[in-house]
Amino acid sequence: MKYGFFDDLKREYVITQPDTPLPWINYLGCQAYFGIISNTAGGYSFYRDARLRRITRYRYNNVPLDFGGRYVYLRDDESKEFWSPSWQPTRHNAEDYSCRHGMGYSTIGSSYKGIEAHTRYFVPLDENLEIWQLTVTNRRSTKATISSFASIEFCLWDAQDDTTNFQRNFSIGQVEVEDGVIYHKTEYRERRDHFAYFATSAKGGSFDTQRESFLGRNRGWDKPAAVEAGQLTGSIAHGWAPIGAHQAKLELAPGETKQIVFILGYQENPVAEKFDPPGSQIINKKRVKPTLAKYLNPANADAAFELLRQYWDGLLGIFQVNTPDVHTNRMVNIWNAYQCMATFNMSRSASFYESGIGRGLGFRDSNQDLLGFVHMAPIRARERIVDLAATQLPTGGAYHQYQPLTKRGNNDVGSGFNDDPHWLIIGVAAYIKETGDWSILDEPVQYDNTPGSETPLYEHLQRSFQYTLDRLGPHGLPLIGRADWNDCLNLNCFSDTPGQSFQTTTNKDGKVAESVFIAGLFVHAGQELAAIAAHRGLNAEAAKYLAEVEKMDQVVRKHGWDGEWFLRAYDDFGAKIGSKECEEGKIFIETNGYCVLAGIGLEDGLAAKALESTRKHLATKHGIVLQQPAYSRYYLNLGEISSYPPGYKENAGIFCHNNPWVIIAETRLGHGDEAHDYYSRINPSAREGISDLHRCEPYVYAQMIAGRDAPTHGEAKNSWLTGTAAWNYYAIAQWILGIRTSLDGLQIAPVIPKSWPGFTATRTYRGVVYKITIERQGEGNNIALTVDGAPVAGNVVPPLTDGRKEVTVKAILS
Ligand code: GLC
Ligand code: GLC
Repeated sequence: MKYGFFDDLKREYVITQPDTPLPWINYLGCQAYFGIISNTAGGYSFYRDARLRRITRYRYNNVPLDFGGRYVYLRDDESKEFWSPSWQPTRHNAEDYSCRHGMGYSTIGSSYKGIEAHTRYFVPLDENLEIWQLTVTNRRSTKATISSFASIEFCLWDAQDDTTNFQRNFSIGQVEVEDGVIYHKTEYRERRDHFAYFATSAKGGSFDTQRESFLGRNRGWDKPAAVEAGQLTGSIAHGWAPIGAHQAKLELAPGETKQIVFILGYQENPVAEKFDPPGSQIINKKRVKPTLAKYLNPANADAAFELLRQYWDGLLGIFQVNTPDVHTNRMVNIWNAYQCMATFNMSRSASFYESGIGRGLGFRDSNQDLLGFVHMAPIRARERIVDLAATQLPTGGAYHQYQPLTKRGNNDVGSGFNDDPHWLIIGVAAYIKETGDWSILDEPVQYDNTPGSETPLYEHLQRSFQYTLDRLGPHGLPLIGRADWNDCLNLNCFSDTPGQSFQTTTNKDGKVAESVFIAGLFVHAGQELAAIAAHRGLNAEAAKYLAEVEKMDQVVRKHGWDGEWFLRAYDDFGAKIGSKECEEGKIFIETNGYCVLAGIGLEDGLAAKALESTRKHLATKHGIVLQQPAYSRYYLNLGEISSYPPGYKENAGIFCHNNPWVIIAETRLGHGDEAHDYYSRINPSAREGISDLHRCEPYVYAQMIAGRDAPTHGEAKNSWLTGTAAWNYYAIAQWILGIRTSLDGLQIAPVIPKSWPGFTATRTYRGVVYKITIERQGEGNNIALTVDGAPVAGNVVPPLTDGRKEVTVKAILS
């Protein structure tokens, strides 16, 4: 069953039932101030770093599941009844509930006993604040006297400390209230130069800032005592739990609508100007006041919203398609692109499944994320690449993660994930293919953030490639180190101690266990690097890379082929993983997808055989599982992969991140039907009708769907922040639809289903708008290209030299 519908014209998903199987969330903010917001107004906000600058409090893994939010209450002052238009926290059976999740905003509301109310939440561009616009309409035939309440709970900044260090935290909370604005200033008196504020456009209302005064003793957010009583108490928080709550009275004639604006914001002050008057302990508010004056005016709030809309129109307009498949269209045109921006902004930090206090930015994850957003944010992609490369080690290896605030490698996790360096090559190649900005290769970049160690970025790529050559194992395959792409295949770990990290515990010397996956990745990255070298005129160097690639290709055929599919790895005993000889885990998706994607065995049938085996052993109607048979017990020599119950996560779950490798592999063999079929199996929009089974949001990808060995086969988990976003976007846009960036220009190479008559697309690329029409005249994938009517040889639109800013590209497929 469905819980809502797609409004494609407005680029919204409209949830029409509040009790979704899981909280269905959206993101607010796209620069420095961010929030997550669920369909019932749960969620929290933070400035830049979800751990260190958490503005509001959220209770992960609470019951009900989603708690802590931007809660609005309405109270009918005649009947004394109160409710929340967003359903939570009071959970009244309101009518016409809807949550419209859009691009950077959410509008949530309902009608209750003739009072209609909606709140639109968004973060204006270039501001460190969020606006809530509450609109209340009286649909009754009589006058209504309504009190509105808006509330948030402040977090004491460090989200980790906030949930653990109560002996201190219950004593440090501080606020100020001035002109009806609530200022949260915990720790401002000493080492913090930042504060938060919560303001309202309603004049003359009352407020509360101490949680217990607002909620009452022994009560929760579902029944605040002050709301019940219809009167906030004017409390000033000292210690305990500072909150912000505003009350305003609304007199509404029949049919009348009124709007109240609320602003929740974050502000930093220069150290020397923290207090006003100087020497006092009172916050200097001069930087906040003009901002408040501006956005508390509804007309200015509307104008800011309009700018946000234009911003997203601009980003999404870079690539738009019209295909015969509605699910393809809305994912490519709207939601998948939007999710790619979220993964870029958030990395893996804050979602309903990532608590904002966990992981730093992953080296491999961030490089892969580039594939999905580089066309929308090329300048920020360049910055990201340089930041990532600066955490690379002189050996060519990389810190597995870095912390975004310090931009330094994370020592707790360290390095030694031997696939990491190659993703840098792939990320940089994607950047150059998109932008044509070759100058990035000359950018001086440090190693391990050490001043004086700078080399041109190009040398970072050279060292990445060399890293594997310096670490070959007994069969000539790359040594795996702590893990390759599969973080849970920990072949050098051998852990039997509870609580030990599978990724950072290394009990073996690492000289035996080898990864066929890294071999495939090396072949792919090596070809990319060779093409870059050749473009720079370094032909001998390019030839050297290709020779190494060819050698690795041979090694994979000899030691990485199991007869019907590619092996996965060799363990610390030199035994095969992912082989028919194994009792469990006989065949894995990663190598069968990636080796073919890299071009291994395309000519001699190995690739076709590998994909046939993948289809036979791994494909399910909910997607392709990671391996089969699932591990039914813990294998000391395999690590975390065998710690998960069968069917979940890396133990034979459908890991939606690597399904597109098989999709791309199918396109490399010219199989458009198969590729699009796999694409559709995990496309969230195509799964909307089974929302009760799928459970996660139907508008974004989840990291995992439970595999066939799990009792919950088909159930998704870990939505939003996953490499799945970028890879699926890349697979559909560049390989199935085949509008592909290359070093030489825009390539047109669709491999679409046979039944499609064609499709149209608009792509802005290197400053030129390409209006593309693909027309099928035969069943194959052969291309005949014309550009502005003139036939062009091959399938790459050559760079335009005559200043044309828009061209018409027509491709006949036969
Ligand atoms: C998660 C990690 C990613 C890893 C994948 C498979 O998505 O973020 O780095 O490759 O799991 O283990
Ligand atoms: C990846 C995997 C997860 C594992 C984690 C460790 O995210 O998906 O299962 O626990 O890496 O870092």
